[in-house]
Amino acid sequence: MDRHAPVPRHVAVVMDGNGRWARQRYMPRFFGHKAGVDALVRAIDLFADRGVEYLTVFAFSSENWKRPADEVSGLMGLVLVAVSKYLGRIAAKGVRIRIIGDRDTMAERLQEAWSLAERSTAHNTRITLTVAFNYGGRWDVVQACRRALADGIDAEGLDEHALGRYTMLGDLPDPDLFIRTGGEMRISNFLLWQVAYAELYFTETLWPDFGAPDIDAALAAYAGRDRRFGGIPPMLAATSSG
Ligand code: FPP
Repeated sequence: MDRHAPVPRHVAVVMDGNGRWARQRYMPRFFGHKAGVDALVRAIDLFADRGVEYLTVFAFSSENWKRPADEVSGLMGLVLVAVSKYLGRIAAKGVRIRIIGDRDTMAERLQEAWSLAERSTAHNTRITLTVAFNYGGRWDVVQACRRALADGIDAEGLDEHALGRYTMLGDLPDPDLFIRTGGEMRISNFLLWQVAYAELYFTETLWPDFGAPDIDAALAAYAGRDRRFGGIPPMLAATSSG
């Protein structure tokens, strides 16, 4: 890797392909989700080592409730197991954990597990891992509008900046790089507001296999992109002002 290449401050990841990874091994989907948690634990460290400050991952979407009941309850149980198994290790590595999503419709035990993860890592500064759980991008925009209205912001006072502050992650820089594993080329209702200017990167690699070579390939692709944020390249800007 080029040591001087620009590194994204904030990376957002749709961790797709756990089910197919398990099927390739003639195993149940849950086996893939378990391997997905291990892949996440490895990825946090790898991204942090490369200088990424914020990593935001889609762990359970508002739409995932439509999956078979046993898979949904398996995923919920996996969170409880993952928190008890990995929290100490993740905390010791300087990772701060935050959760975004609709907490009100989550089981109480799950809310408690996530709160514990947040409280016990609140002082960490190496990298912030935000786990989107029971999250949807449209839900996020709606909850932002509701909270802005509840705060007395009226139509005049509502602009992009004001509403942005009420979205989940309103206190963080927007994601610079959006990665989706597993071969699908969709955003799937993840961080719709926040990825407005993110560079998009799609890979066929299934999430449980996503390791250092994939991370370096994604970061190299990012470093090669020309980010304009809706403007024009500097070379053209220099010639168009006269
Ligand atoms: C998509 O793969 C993956 C998910 C819906 C779950 C992702 C969750 C994890 C990796 C675990 C996160 C857990 C914690 C504790 C943060 P898929 O099932 O859609 O795979 P497929 O497309 O191959 O069927």
